[in-house]
Amino acid sequence: MKKVLIPVLLLLALGMSARGQQPLPLYMRTDAPLEERVEDALQRLTLEEKVALCHAQSKFTTPGVARLGIPELMMSDGPHGVRAEIEWNSWDYAGWTNDSITAFPALTALAATWNPEMSARYGKAVGEEARYREKDVLLGPGVNIYRTPLNGRNFEYMGEDPCLAGEMVVPYIRELQKNGVAACVKHYALNNQEQWRGSVDVAVSERALREIYLPAFRKAVVEGGSWTIMGSYNRYLGQHCCHNEVLLNDILRKEWGFDGCVITDWGGAHDTREAALNGLDIEMGTYTNGLTSESVFGYDQYYLATPYLEMLRRGEVPMQTVDDKARNILRLIFRTSMNPDRPWGSLCTEEHYAAAKAIGDESIVLLRNDGILPLETDGSGQILVVGDNATRRLTDNGGSSELKPRRTISPLEGLQALYGDRISYTRGYACGRPLYERVEEVSPETVDSLRREAVARARKADVVIYIGGLNKNAYQDCESTDRQSYDLPFHQNELIEALLEVNPRLIVMNISGNAYAMPWAERVPAILHASYLGSMGGASIADVISGRVNPSGKLPYSIPYRLSDCAAHASGDPAQYPGIERGEQEGAPIPGSFLDSGSDPQVTYAEDILVGYRWHDTKKIPARYAFGHGLSYTTFDYGKPEVSSGRLNAGEGVHIRIPVTNTGTRDGMEVVQLYIGDDRCSVMRPLKELKHFKKVLVRAGESVDVEFTITEQDLRFYDETTRSWVAEAGTFKAYVGSSSSDIRRVVPFRY
Ligand code: GLC
Repeated sequence: MKKVLIPVLLLLALGMSARGQQPLPLYMRTDAPLEERVEDALQRLTLEEKVALCHAQSKFTTPGVARLGIPELMMSDGPHGVRAEIEWNSWDYAGWTNDSITAFPALTALAATWNPEMSARYGKAVGEEARYREKDVLLGPGVNIYRTPLNGRNFEYMGEDPCLAGEMVVPYIRELQKNGVAACVKHYALNNQEQWRGSVDVAVSERALREIYLPAFRKAVVEGGSWTIMGSYNRYLGQHCCHNEVLLNDILRKEWGFDGCVITDWGGAHDTREAALNGLDIEMGTYTNGLTSESVFGYDQYYLATPYLEMLRRGEVPMQTVDDKARNILRLIFRTSMNPDRPWGSLCTEEHYAAAKAIGDESIVLLRNDGILPLETDGSGQILVVGDNATRRLTDNGGSSELKPRRTISPLEGLQALYGDRISYTRGYACGRPLYERVEEVSPETVDSLRREAVARARKADVVIYIGGLNKNAYQDCESTDRQSYDLPFHQNELIEALLEVNPRLIVMNISGNAYAMPWAERVPAILHASYLGSMGGASIADVISGRVNPSGKLPYSIPYRLSDCAAHASGDPAQYPGIERGEQEGAPIPGSFLDSGSDPQVTYAEDILVGYRWHDTKKIPARYAFGHGLSYTTFDYGKPEVSSGRLNAGEGVHIRIPVTNTGTRDGMEVVQLYIGDDRCSVMRPLKELKHFKKVLVRAGESVDVEFTITEQDLRFYDETTRSWVAEAGTFKAYVGSSSSDIRRVVPFRY
């Protein structure tokens, strides 16, 4: 409907002006500079209209100004595709028949490609689908740092390293917004767990905030140009992030120059005065838990609704605050819903499926292979597929990122398409239903009978492909709950051991958005690791297993041997995860509101900047599989680097050129990673930190020169005393390698 109405309005207005009638109001003139349109519209608004812009009118929309022909804003989740239509004012799905879409891989999969071109293809495709579904804001991408493998939402984010997440988020945003659809980078900031997400107060050093948790958001805003950003539920410095003076006023607006809109997470607003003064523009989902609980309050009772209007009228907060908010919202509307130049979008095209497939292909990580892979399709042996994840599409559940895909290919279907009747299947294990606060235990009889059936059939098979891992039910990879164990659920370890006993030719194909314990890893001939791959997932998995695709994914997060090897869990102190409950939170929880714990919880990031591989390297605690690890069906040799200079002078760069040779028999892609280490510094620094990477295709037997330029910016750390970025003179090393633990060349230089 909107598709037609706005252009008609505009044409009418143009038509009138063409006939010498009323001139087109400036704010409607799309040839006028954006800021002039904003100011012209602003001065036409009443106070009530300005306040109305600042809060929801339904679950996923905000009002425009009907009197002036300024349209509403339609929002939808993301980030892995356009979520099915939700009813106007409930969490129920509307049951439309025209809203099934392409399900793209999870953002952890996108990160695992280490390929910014894949991010650009992703943003273009998902942006076209959001545009076609007439959405003005797509609620994603997420770039919260992977601090603990127990975080239920890691699958929606881009891993443990700020450089990787920052490089990979920018193209997605830029290409998405070319469709006239706003990205909404989320959740700003420090939303690194789901436990107590609605109120947990995160205690973290400013240095770790600046060096680890903010850089990807900064790149999303400064380089990606994100038109909106979503405040997170949690608190920082005791103040909710959706109206946090330091994060929003000081850093986002003043330091980064953000000119977009700050939107709450659904239910993230808790105070009118703070919301008025601390940079919040649009309040959504208040008094709900952002997923299921309903509000007992109407939209007029939102913090930025009547309570705000009355404060303004009483002069208790400056009128400037509502003008600033209205400006940001009008700017968003002119960029999106009132932008007549935006394309029309498209849905479920072959191009979109091809993008989903290509991203999936490049995201799968080959962790281990003794030569059993690739499993050629021209063989004759019988292949038994075991595992519950072989038949799941894994696009539904998981929380707000769940999707209604029009087409999906399960791993079993993908394998059957390539191997035909060589494939047989048995479930192997069943999943317990998620109950409140725990997961139902599967009956021992069921566990036993499924396992015995799988073992009996594995005994006779030539090869067994085990497809398990996690799924998107509560307490696995799922919003609003964290995992309760680092182990695979549903007795999968015992099943894998039992299969190994009777058939050593076992390939483990894990599907999960998180790391997990692998006690059997050294005895399994091959292990593949994939996140949730969306519509084309089964085709990607089958193509990698068969060798039609040479795997090139690299881990975007470390896989520790055990949970206690992970920085957030090393001390075993609950204060460091999930945090401690300090007692009554000021102000009793509002009934139906989203204060999921009135207990005033606080979590302390005591590991500071030593997150992920930074911890493993510096504390010399090797991970089972390191950040950046991923094998290929070929091999690569790193030749002697050519270095432009042994000294890096301020304002200049040190150029490094590395010849990378494919020493195997098949073409392959390699991700060459460059880490920088500071030999001596006045503050503690990790052994090394990722600063550059490049993914290159190298034909069999050929070489490619990979070039990097190291700049002074790559040497800096955040100095809390001067509150500035500093590079100290001294000696440094450039570590060039195939992973954070597979360093092939080291180049020393001075600064
Ligand atoms: C949810 C999520 C957020 C999502 C929003 C709307 O609670 O935290 O990522 O975009 O609410 O569904």
